[in-house]
Amino acid sequence: RIAYVNGSYVPHGEAAVHIEDRGYQFADGVYEVCEIRHGHLIDETRHMDRLERSLKELRIDMPMSRQALGIVLRETVRRNRVREGLVYMQVTRGVARRDHAFPKPGTPPALVVTAKSVDPRKGEANAAKGVGVITRPDNRWERVDIKSVGLLPNCMAKQAAREAGAYEAWLVDKDGFVTEGSSTNAWIVTKDGVLVTRFTDFGILKGITRTTLFDLCAREGVKIEERQFTVAEAQEARECFLTSATTIVMPIVSIDGRPIGNGAPGSIATGLRAKFHEVAE
Ligand code: PDD
Repeated sequence: RIAYVNGSYVPHGEAAVHIEDRGYQFADGVYEVCEIRHGHLIDETRHMDRLERSLKELRIDMPMSRQALGIVLRETVRRNRVREGLVYMQVTRGVARRDHAFPKPGTPPALVVTAKSVDPRKGEANAAKGVGVITRPDNRWERVDIKSVGLLPNCMAKQAAREAGAYEAWLVDKDGFVTEGSSTNAWIVTKDGVLVTRFTDFGILKGITRTTLFDLCAREGVKIEERQFTVAEAQEARECFLTSATTIVMPIVSIDGRPIGNGAPGSIATGLRAKFHEVAE
């Protein structure tokens, strides 16, 4: 495998960043994960838009032009011969002597890009069976709209899910509402067949898969309500599912051990999963 690190393509096993990279010391950086399908980047424009937004919110410069970054992404995918998989990009505020305040202007941001193949049969097998989720308190900071590499609460929640034999942890705010998953957006389907997902503010990540699913639902005439929902409402829902670049639309068959619907993947989630790539660009 080959990684791109600050201007060079290097063997993955030898790829390294400086010990005083601010991403390493302070989680002072942002990232994107983009699906690769049939060798193409899915929803590249939206991922680039969100990367730029995250950087702007943190006042980190783009490491290079969007066009140049697009070339690096494609070249990394090509050099790793990825047809089906993921490309990961990370931008940090760069290398500087440790000090919480920002380094002096002109310190170049650091860019790392990796790509890996993922066997699509694995996702399809999970989707065919459906997955379980558990719930955990959402103890993240209040700007999770920024796709920051500071993911410790997300890692703790995901690990709790793994240890419980579940696929994902749904995060629940102090008022009892589900915000999102540790690395996915959260959805339910009401008895009337209406999709419900939380509105976007600073309290969730505005998922690209979520946005593209809005496009698909508009085309298919499926109604979406953007509002909060509780764990109890989700457990009583007709269907539940999660979305992300890595999972697309993944049906959920249990929450905290309670079966959803008849305990099998729902037809709406399964149908949307099958049609997703008809609208994703
Ligand atoms: N995670 N919410 C959170 C907290 C996420 O980390 C992600 C993505 C999403 C879904 O966003 P999108 O549809 O743009 O992938 C929602 C990526 C895949 C990750 O951390 O690996």
